[in-house]
Formats: sequence, structure tokens, C-alpha cells
Amino acid sequence: MEIRDARPDDVPTIAKVHVDSWRTTYRDVLPKSYLNDLSYDARETMWAGAFGAESQTFLIVAEDAGKIAGFAAGGAARKDTPEARTYGGELYAVYMLESYQRRGLGRRLVAAVAEELITRGHSEMITWVLEDNAACRFYERLGGEFLGSKTVEIADMSLRAVAYGWPDASVLLKPRV
Ligand SMILES: CC(C)(COP(=O)(O)OP(=O)(O)OC[C@H]1O[C@@H](n2cnc3c(N)ncnc32)[C@H](O)[C@@H]1OP(=O)(O)O)[C@@H](O)C(=O)NCCC(=O)NCCS
Repeated sequence: MEIRDARPDDVPTIAKVHVDSWRTTYRDVLPKSYLNDLSYDARETMWAGAFGAESQTFLIVAEDAGKIAGFAAGGAARKDTPEARTYGGELYAVYMLESYQRRGLGRRLVAAVAEELITRGHSEMITWVLEDNAACRFYERLGGEFLGSKTVEIADMSLRAVAYGWPDASVLLKPRV
């Protein structure tokens, strides 16, 4: 299994992994019709933006024998909440296909994002996750500190999202947190 920077030609597969992982991750949270209607093309357009000239977003993939099993995205923290103001870097997303979860790959992807953020001058990292998502336990296991919560609108629903932070993202580079 290889963790590497994404290339522009990975974008269609990243979009597919993103949608497929949303469908399994949020099957008990979001309406079935909303998940069915998710579009690979829309996610492709979104992630292609990471390769635009002005982009500050970067993408990292986990690849298994030529097959992309998951990906993560990071960049400058969105400063839209009080929690985020002191955090320079953000983990925007980390998604593994269901069949590749719980094998240590999510941890390696998050470490790779932290490493790239530090290289870009961001020593802290924040991430947002739906309160109902089991991924909260993953972030806690990785040493994330609960920072606060906000309401997000998805599929015409008001859902709670919580923020986890690593004031010193370099802890994520160690083999075990
Ligand atoms: C969340 C996700 C990225 C974690 O990646 P992963 O490869 O499954 O997790 P890892 O195997 O690297 O786990 C790292 C540690 O977190 C723990 N962990 C991971 N998922 C967990 C869960 N759902 N509940 C409890 N602990 C969990 C593991 O047990 C492991 O602990 P250990 O080091 O003591 O053994 C992955 O499960 C995933 O893609 N989930 C669906 C998408 C999602 O929710 N993404 C986050 C959106 S914000």
C-alpha cells in the first residue's frame, strides 16, 4: 500500500471513492434519495479545482496495487468559526472505501496531510466531522482535541458538526499517537 501525492489523472477515481464512501458512511444519517443522487461528475469538478493555479488545497491518495482505496485533502484552515481562528491548517476530508477501513490507512493519510501542512508553514491542524459519524472516535484515537461545534445544512437537514484540533500537528507524524 502506497501513500502518495495525487496526480490530476487521479481525480475521477478520487471523486468515485468520495461518493461511494459517502454512501456507506452516511447511510444511517442522510436520506437514501440524497445519497443516490450524489454525482461523480460534481465531485470530479470539485477535486479538479485542487489542481488549479490558485489552489491551496492538496490531495493525497492511498493506493493498493494501482487501485485508489482512499484519499485525504488538506490546506489552509477555513476561518469561519472561532474554533478555527488559531488553526492554520485544515484536514478537509479523509475517506477510505469501506473494504479498506480499519487497516491503519486513515492514520497514514492523516499523518501525510499533517506533514504537508507543516511543510507549508501550518503547525496546527483542525478538522470538522459530523457528530453522528463514528470517525469522531478515529480523530480522538489520533489525539484530536474537541474544540467546538456548529450547525451545517446537508440535504435540507440541520446537522451538528464537531471540530477536533491538533495544536501541534507534528504529534501525528510519530508512528503511534
Ligand atoms: C474515518 C476513517 C478515515 C479512518 O480510517 P481507517 O483506516 O478506517 O482507520 P485506522 O485503521 O487508521 O484507525 C486508526 C485508529 O483509529 C481507530 N478507529 C478508526 N475508526 C474507528 C471507529 N469507527 N471507531 C473507533 N475507533 C476507530 C482504530 O481502531 C485505530 O486505533 P489503534 O491505532 O488503536 O488500532 C475511515 O474509517 C473512513 O474512511 N470512514 C468513512 C469516511 C469518514 O467517516 N471519513 C471522515 C469524514 S470527516
